[in-house]
Amino acid sequence: MNLFTSTVGRKILMAVTGLMLVGFITVHLLGNLSIFWGADAINAYAKHLHDLGPLVWIFRLVMLCLFAIHITFGVQLYLENKAANPEPYAVQKTLVTTFSAKTMVFTGLIILAFLIYHLLHFTVQVTNPDISAHNLPLVDGHLDVFTMVVMSFQKVFIAIIYLIAMVALFLHLSHGVSSWVQTLGWSTGPSQDKVTALGKLVAIVYGLAYIAIPLFILAHIVK
Ligand code: HEM
Repeated sequence: MNLFTSTVGRKILMAVTGLMLVGFITVHLLGNLSIFWGADAINAYAKHLHDLGPLVWIFRLVMLCLFAIHITFGVQLYLENKAANPEPYAVQKTLVTTFSAKTMVFTGLIILAFLIYHLLHFTVQVTNPDISAHNLPLVDGHLDVFTMVVMSFQKVFIAIIYLIAMVALFLHLSHGVSSWVQTLGWSTGPSQDKVTALGKLVAIVYGLAYIAIPLFILAHIVK
C-alpha cells in the first residue's frame, strides 16, 4: 500500500496528522485560557513561547507540514469521492453528525482561511498595527499580548470572525475526532457509538472553551 497514493493510505495520513493537530489545539487552548487568570498569566505564557527561540521555527515547520498534508489529502479525497458518488452518501445517526460529516471539507477550508488571518493578526501582527503588541508599551520588559488580544476582541468585526471560525472548528472536530479513531481501526462494532459520543463531547468542550475567549472579551467580562 502506498501511503501517498492509495485511498486507505491517504486516510491514514489524514487521521495521523489530524490527531497531531488536535494535540496542538489542546496545548494552544490551555495556553490561551490563561487569559482568564489575567494579563500576567497570558503574557508569561507568550514569553515562554518566544523564549523557545529556534525550537519555535522547528515547531512551525512541523505544523506547516501537518497542515499541508491534512488539507491536500482532505481536498483530494473529497473531490475523488464526489466524482465517484455524485449523490450524498453516509447515513449518519444524528443531525449534528450528519451535518458535520457532510461539511468537513467546507469547515476545514474555513479553518484554513481563519488560520491565515489569525497568523497575520496575532503572529505577524499586520492586520491591526495600532493594537499590535510590538506597538504597545512593554510590561515588565515583555510584549503585552494580553492587551493586544483584549483590544482585538473588543472590536466586534474581529470577534465575529473568530466566533465563526470557532463554530467551524467545533463542527470539524465533531466528526473529525471520531473518524480518525475509526480510520485507524481502533473502534469497531458497539464501541463505535461510544467513540462518536466521545468525539462530540471533545468538540463541545473545545468549541465552548475557544468560543469563550472572544465572547467574554466582547461582553467586557474579561478586560
Ligand atoms: C480564541 C481563539 C484563539 C486565540 C485567542 C488565539 C491566540 C493566539 C495568539 C495570541 C498567538 C500568538 C502567540 C505569540 O506569538 O505570542 C497565536 C498563534 C497561533 N495560533 Fe492561535 N488563538 C486562537 C485560536 C487558534 C486556533 C483555533 C488555531 C488552529 C486551528 C490556532 C493556531 C495558531 C497558530 C498555528 C499560531 C502560531 C504559533 C507560532 O507562532 O508559531 N489558534 N494564537
